[in-house]
Amino acid sequence: MSFRVADRVAQLPPYIFSEINFLKDQARSRGVDLLSLGIGDPDLPTPQPIVERMIQAIQKPANHTYSPYEGSELFRSAARRWFGRRFGVSLESNQCAALIGSKEGIAHFPMAFLNPGDSAIYPSPGYPVFETAITLAGARAIALPLKPENGFLPQAKQVEQLFLSHRPKYLLLNFPSNPTSVVCPKGTLEEIVYLAKKHSVILAYDNAYSEIYFDDKHRPASLLEIPGALDVAIEFHSLSKTFNMTGWRVGFVVGNPELIAGLIKYKTNIDSGPFLAAQDAGAFALDNAEMLTAPLRTVYLERMKIATRALGALGIEYVEPKATFYVWARVPGNRSSMEFTKALIESEGLVVTPGIGFGREGEGFFRLSLTTGEAQLKTAFERLGRHLAR
Ligand code: MLT
Repeated sequence: MSFRVADRVAQLPPYIFSEINFLKDQARSRGVDLLSLGIGDPDLPTPQPIVERMIQAIQKPANHTYSPYEGSELFRSAARRWFGRRFGVSLESNQCAALIGSKEGIAHFPMAFLNPGDSAIYPSPGYPVFETAITLAGARAIALPLKPENGFLPQAKQVEQLFLSHRPKYLLLNFPSNPTSVVCPKGTLEEIVYLAKKHSVILAYDNAYSEIYFDDKHRPASLLEIPGALDVAIEFHSLSKTFNMTGWRVGFVVGNPELIAGLIKYKTNIDSGPFLAAQDAGAFALDNAEMLTAPLRTVYLERMKIATRALGALGIEYVEPKATFYVWARVPGNRSSMEFTKALIESEGLVVTPGIGFGREGEGFFRLSLTTGEAQLKTAFERLGRHLAR
């Protein structure tokens, strides 16, 4: 007997990181020594004080039960406190809910608010889940092309044109951007909020990388800092990258209470919230965020210097990173981003992510994730140099 997946799954492209895993497995089976700058999964452990808090939290039987659907009061109040300290925006209790990682919220939000046939806009290049989530909700996914000549930022005119021609119900943006590492100026966010309100479009903002930045001048803002944003917007946050907690699956959503209530209504039917002990440790992390995140920024800044110096020396064009732990660089020569990635894995065992995995507008680029130590990073660039010299 053979089984066929549903059309909604059959229509999806393979998830880029599982495709890369397949290429890695093939290379590994041939004995290739792999070095990965592929997936953005921090190599550094979760800070020890958070781990210790988790050890205490897991001992409490009260943490072994289902979570409240919107998340524990302990976690949500810590998230609101952090948000107030970090962005100067004070939130009511119904303006914040826990998520099983921000990816979960981003994936489910369109199911709660889009009907089949609706249109919704996502950034390209962008994190693949943005488009997939819209498609799975049966809606038409419209790309907002983020062009190198515009610094990979949306242009107000371009956004309004898409609003007028597609009448979308939903626009999702992500800054600091995965994969481009670009931070969005507040002026652009103000223009987007103005347009969303004018055209009655729901705005979602993925701010998962807000804490990984390199100087105060480019410290990422929250969309909710923009006056009036709370009328139309929600924002996703994640503890994954901020505290090296990718496997813990804890994030949260903040913003318009009606939008949050709709998402929670959907979620009550399909999940039971993050593990309460992880929320407990997550609350501790957020309450101590200033102390815990500063050392991580220092580590990534050093890695970023190594990477950009090496790329410069190899004559590879790249976007000057202002945040995240990614470098977005142009594929040298005439190969497609996938051809380049495959050749790099085959010849040097060096894993990068091809730009095409982030949408059509990502073609011609590749992404390096600096989630590996400095010594390995240096080796990675030696391998890249060797590959280019062949
Ligand atoms: C990435 O862009 O590398 C992601 O964070 C990995 C993922 O969530 O699948």
